Amino acid sequence: MAVSAAAPNPLAPPWLHVPADANALAPGLWSRTVSREGGTLTVGGVAASELAERFGTPLYVIDEDDARSRAVEVRRAFDDAFAEVGTAAKVYYAGKAFLSVEVARWMDAAGLFIDVCSGGELAVALAAGVDPERLGFHGNNKSLAEIERAVEVGIGAIVIDSLQEIDRVAEAAARHGVRQSVRLRVNSGVHAHTHAFLATAHEDQKFGIGLEAAVDAVARIRSHDSLAFKGLHCHIGSQIFGADGFAESAARLLTLHRQLLEGGDVPELNLGGGFGIAYTSADDPAPIDQLARRIAETVAAGCEELDLPLPVVAFEPGRSIIGTAGLTLYTVGTTKDVPVAFQDDGESALRRYVSVDGGMSDNARPALYEADYSARIANRVSSVPPALVRVAGKHCESGDIVVDAEYLPGDVAPGDLLAVPATGAYCFALSSNYNYLGRPPVVAVRGGDARVIVRGETIDDLLARDAAYDPAAARPTASKERNQA
Ligand SMILES: Cc1ncc(COP(=O)(O)O)c(C=O)c1O
Repeated sequence: MAVSAAAPNPLAPPWLHVPADANALAPGLWSRTVSREGGTLTVGGVAASELAERFGTPLYVIDEDDARSRAVEVRRAFDDAFAEVGTAAKVYYAGKAFLSVEVARWMDAAGLFIDVCSGGELAVALAAGVDPERLGFHGNNKSLAEIERAVEVGIGAIVIDSLQEIDRVAEAAARHGVRQSVRLRVNSGVHAHTHAFLATAHEDQKFGIGLEAAVDAVARIRSHDSLAFKGLHCHIGSQIFGADGFAESAARLLTLHRQLLEGGDVPELNLGGGFGIAYTSADDPAPIDQLARRIAETVAAGCEELDLPLPVVAFEPGRSIIGTAGLTLYTVGTTKDVPVAFQDDGESALRRYVSVDGGMSDNARPALYEADYSARIANRVSSVPPALVRVAGKHCESGDIVVDAEYLPGDVAPGDLLAVPATGAYCFALSSNYNYLGRPPVVAVRGGDARVIVRGETIDDLLARDAAYDPAAARPTASKERNQA
């Protein structure tokens, strides 16, 4: 039996409700300048249809005002919360979420430090003109060349992640005749994701070292004249909605911090990033100022209990600054209604597959983490009752899903533009050339203007890396176009 498209579809996940209006833009999912004007979705004062016409699809769109204002708000939230308890905060933008020269400049202008985790990210931040003193460098396996470069440019801090790295950084710093500031990444045993956190004695993961090994590791750091130990670093996970995991982790770290004070100065404590955002109407992250206050109070209470001076407390948010600022525009190419059995007795319902011109190459998160997203038709509104759809990409993988489940107007059709909100973080950053699709351009919109901040890749870009490619021997093509065209 096929179920009416307007009724709840039994294939829908329990959290997804049939919307009263499948054109409506759910609060919290979209960047702040997104609205519907005359039916068309606009962002930064530019209509989605104009963006698609000028730059093609798929297209990453970043709402510049949203990104800049969130950067300032997040920084202020931590500054204010920690000032309230009598210390300072240091907020690093986690460049891994999305980094380009332009975005690094926005973050710098907003007063944020920047955290990088490869020589490539370091090069982008330096290309943006960011003062190296305001950069931190992470990673569980930094190459010797990366360490050398970071020390050479005068990076503010290196987060040491293994015992071997202590000597490597110390040697590089000695060679350059500098005293390099370092932090030590530890596993607090707290692992948090969205609503819940898990606290274990040991974490089975590649990052950092266990709390029990940290005292010796710090002694080894302190044995090197070329290293200046700044404090502990810990990152408990991503897309975290509440403060409990941070509070538990901070409590564990402070006990260790106290032990370390017996051997010298420990001016800082870095609690990492991981603050969540809404991807669907089911997501309800706590506002960042609330989280900042809770964490500040916990750290202050912990220090009082242990009779410690309050350290400067550092954070590394990425997603919570840039995630909601981004959306991706796609064009619908095909639709298919697939009967899917949902009960043993053979009852079935229709799932409509809506295939778009991008997919896992521009957004790997659904395939990597089963991440949920939502979508809206961007070029028009429709009064046709909603149908459950699954937005699929165009790649040769059945797991190539952009939006697993969403209700869209039942007349969604080839040629429609779809906008997927909250793609600012870890989409461009994780993009690939799977199936030889060129990576889409990134366009920043603001006050009615749109400009490319990272250009899209062409077929020529992709072929240029192929050592056997000889333009003279190739069959003629009209390949100046992007290969999605
Ligand atoms: C060490 C570290 N800091 C900060 C972040 C940023 O996390 P988020 O973007 O979730 O805030 C990550 C993300 O993986 C991380 O590994």
